[in-house]
Amino acid sequence: MNSRPVAIITGASRGIGRAITLALASEGYDIAAIARTSDSECMLSLQPETEKLGAEFYPVGLDVAHTNLHDEAITSILDRYGRIDVLVNNAGIAPIERKDILDMDEETFDRVLAVNLRGPVFLARKVAREMIWMKEQVKDYRPSIMFITSFLAYTSFTHGMDVCISKAALSMASQVFADRLTEDGICVYEIRPGLIKTEMTTRSKYKFDRLIAEGLIPQKRWGTPEDVARAVASLARGDWQYSAGTVFEISGGMNIQSI
Ligand SMILES: NC(=O)c1ccc[n+]([C@@H]2O[C@H](COP(=O)([O-])OP(=O)(O)OC[C@H]3O[C@@H](n4cnc5c(N)ncnc54)[C@H](OP(=O)(O)O)[C@@H]3O)[C@@H](O)[C@H]2O)c1
Repeated sequence: MNSRPVAIITGASRGIGRAITLALASEGYDIAAIARTSDSECMLSLQPETEKLGAEFYPVGLDVAHTNLHDEAITSILDRYGRIDVLVNNAGIAPIERKDILDMDEETFDRVLAVNLRGPVFLARKVAREMIWMKEQVKDYRPSIMFITSFLAYTSFTHGMDVCISKAALSMASQVFADRLTEDGICVYEIRPGLIKTEMTTRSKYKFDRLIAEGLIPQKRWGTPEDVARAVASLARGDWQYSAGTVFEISGGMNIQSI
């Protein structure tokens, strides 16, 4: 069994997941990095970057929506490392075409819910079962599960009802997992990013630049993937062990209601 702790990060190839991968590698974790393909250019370049930080890197190709493939993916990670200490459920999508709710189509709705909600929920269930079993096998074991949700869990977006619903529901899933798993020594946390500069937000960059200039974000700047990764690293480090079920808002204050 690996002597170092192991973190699984979904959606590791780009954006927030990539920054989380590098932050956890810096914290002394070996990495199982999940994206839809394990040998994309992004994954191939992430491997040496991670290894430079002294961590092992294991790329896993998995579409998280395909829950029937979760067992195989987790088994392969356990075959490689023998343990899982942290799961960061980060993979998520926004539809390519953002349609008004009156034009929303069922196929896109189902796909967004499958990737953003069903996938992370059943991956967490699978990993939680393994973590409960591992408690007896791993010395000084401090497992945690993190869900990356969004400010859209509490903000209406009429051209993204599917994402809003998926993130609001994932936020509740995080609460229920925290409620159930705390008794088994697994800390569950929700991390809610605001507007983060990644490929996902490139398409709406000018709109959000304008909204930020007009005061949408009290801290008056885009968030960076590293802003989110620092929070994840702090949770993984064990700085928040008495805060199971807490929601960590990384949004420059978008959560502040003001008149
Ligand atoms: N950017 C923001 O402003 C923002 C704000 C709030 C919340 N978030 C949330 O933060 C998370 C990361 O967002 P991001 O901005 O970093 O997005 P991104 O730049 O589009 O990256 C998404 C990552 O997820 C992977 N991915 C997509 N679909 C997948 C699937 N079905 N199975 C496995 N992996 C999949 C992608 O890799 P492949 O394409 O190689 O599979 C990629 O690594 C998402 O859950 C998002 O909802 C983002």
